[in-house]
Amino acid sequence: MPATPPPQTYRVKSFGCQMNVYDGERMAELLGAQGLTAADEGAEADLVVLNTCHIREKAAEKVYSDIGRLRREDGSSPLIAVAGCVAQAEGEEIMARAPAVRMVVGPQAYHRLPEMLRAAQDGRRVTDTDMPAETKFAALPQRRRSGASAFLTVQEGCDKFCTYCVVPYTRGAETSRPFADLIAEAERLAEAGALEITLLGQNVNAWTGEDAKGRAIGLDGLIRALAALPALRRIRYTTSHPNDMTQGLIAAHAEVDKLMPFLHLPVQAGSDRVLKAMNRSHTAESYLRLLDRVRAVRPDIALSGDFIVGFPGETEAEFAETLALVEATGYAQAFSFKYSPRPGTPAATMDGQVAPEVMDERLQRLQAALQRSSLAFNQASVGRTCEVLVERRGRREGQWLGKSPWLQSVHFANEPWGEARIGDLVRVTLVEAGPNSLHARLLAPVAA
Ligand code: 5AD
Ligand code: SF4
Repeated sequence: MPATPPPQTYRVKSFGCQMNVYDGERMAELLGAQGLTAADEGAEADLVVLNTCHIREKAAEKVYSDIGRLRREDGSSPLIAVAGCVAQAEGEEIMARAPAVRMVVGPQAYHRLPEMLRAAQDGRRVTDTDMPAETKFAALPQRRRSGASAFLTVQEGCDKFCTYCVVPYTRGAETSRPFADLIAEAERLAEAGALEITLLGQNVNAWTGEDAKGRAIGLDGLIRALAALPALRRIRYTTSHPNDMTQGLIAAHAEVDKLMPFLHLPVQAGSDRVLKAMNRSHTAESYLRLLDRVRAVRPDIALSGDFIVGFPGETEAEFAETLALVEATGYAQAFSFKYSPRPGTPAATMDGQVAPEVMDERLQRLQAALQRSSLAFNQASVGRTCEVLVERRGRREGQWLGKSPWLQSVHFANEPWGEARIGDLVRVTLVEAGPNSLHARLLAPVAA
C-alpha cells in the first residue's frame, strides 16, 4: 500500500452494546489527543473506525457492506480501521476479504491505535488482536467531556461460557478495573457535567476490588463510594448475571438513594432444560426467588431482561415456559432475540436447530407479551411524581425527553412557570402511559 498523508479528521461508528459506545468514546478521545478532529456531520472523514459487534449473525456481514459504502467514486477509500468484537473474532478474514481495511484492532488493544495509525500511514496493514496483560485504560487520555448521563466501564469479559455466546472469546476473561482508577474517572466525568453514571460490564456484578483502605469489596462497595461524590446524582449498572447478585448489592438497592430502582437481569429462557443446555447455571425458579428478594427491599424496582427464542431443541412447551416466566415477572422492559448460531460456540453444533419461521413466530408472541408487560408497568406509574434527567429536545417546540428513575422515556413540555434544559434534573408528574414512553407534566420550580 502507498504511504498516505496523516489523517486530519476521524469518525467512530459504534454498533452493538453500551460497552462499545463507551469504547467508541475512548477511541475518539485517543484520536483527539493525537491532534485529529471529529469530522463534521455529513462530511467525509480521513479516518473511519468501525467499532463492530459480533453478538448475533449479520453483524459481520454489516461490516463488509459498511466498508463497501465508504468507497469513493474513484475506487479509493479513507483510512479504515475495524475495531470491536468482529475485529477480534474475524480479524484475519477481514484483512483477506477487504483490502481497503488498513487496521484491525481488538477491544483490548485499542490503546495502541496511535502506533497502528503511524504504521498505516507508512503503507502497512496492521492487525492487533492481543489481549495484553497491561490494561488499555492506563494508556488512554483522561476524560474531559461528558453529557449529563455517562458510561463508565468497570468490568470486562466473561467467565460464564453460556453455550450460545461469543463474549467469552471476543472480550476475554473477567477482569475488574481498580477502585482508585474508577473513582478518579467518575470524578472527572462529574466535573465534566455528568449527573448520572451507568457502570458497565459484561458481568458488571462480578466486579471486585479493594477500597481505599485495602478492604475487599464488591460492586455494592463501589456503588456506595460513588454515591459519596456530591456532584453525582444517579447511579446505574448493567449487565448483571443472576448468579453474581449478592446480598450486599440487593441491600444497596434499599440503602443507597442515588442507586436507581432499575435492574437489568437477563434470564434468557423459562425452561430449566433449555437453561441447562445454555449452561446458565440457574433455574427459572431460582431466578424468580432472586427477584422476590430484590422486590422485598425495593418494591418499586423496574425489571429488565434479555431473552433468546429458538435455542437448539426448544419445544413449543418449553417456549410456553418462557411466556409464563414473563407473566410471572412483570418486566418494565426487555430485549428479545432469535437464537443465532455463532461460529466456535458449543450451541452452534447442537442437534435440533429450530426452523427460522418457528423462531419468527415465537419472537412475535414473546414481544407481544413483553409489550403488554411494559404497558402495564408504565400504566402503574401514572400519578407518580419523580425526577427526570433531561436528555434531548422533543420533536415539538418546547418539548423535552428524558429518563425517569425507572429508566422510562418521559416526554413533557415547558410550562408558564418553568422551562427545562438539557442536563437538568426536573420534577414531573407522570400523567399518561404507552408501552414505550410516558407523558408528564413539569412541576414548579425546576431543579437546577
Ligand atoms: N443468539 C441470540 N442472542 C444472543 N445473545 C447472546 N448471544 C446470542 C446468540 N448467539 C443475547 C443474549 C444476551 C444479549 C446481550 O444478547 O440474550 O443477554
Ligand atoms: Fe455471554 Fe453468558 Fe457471559 Fe452474558 S453471561 S456475556 S450471555 S457468556
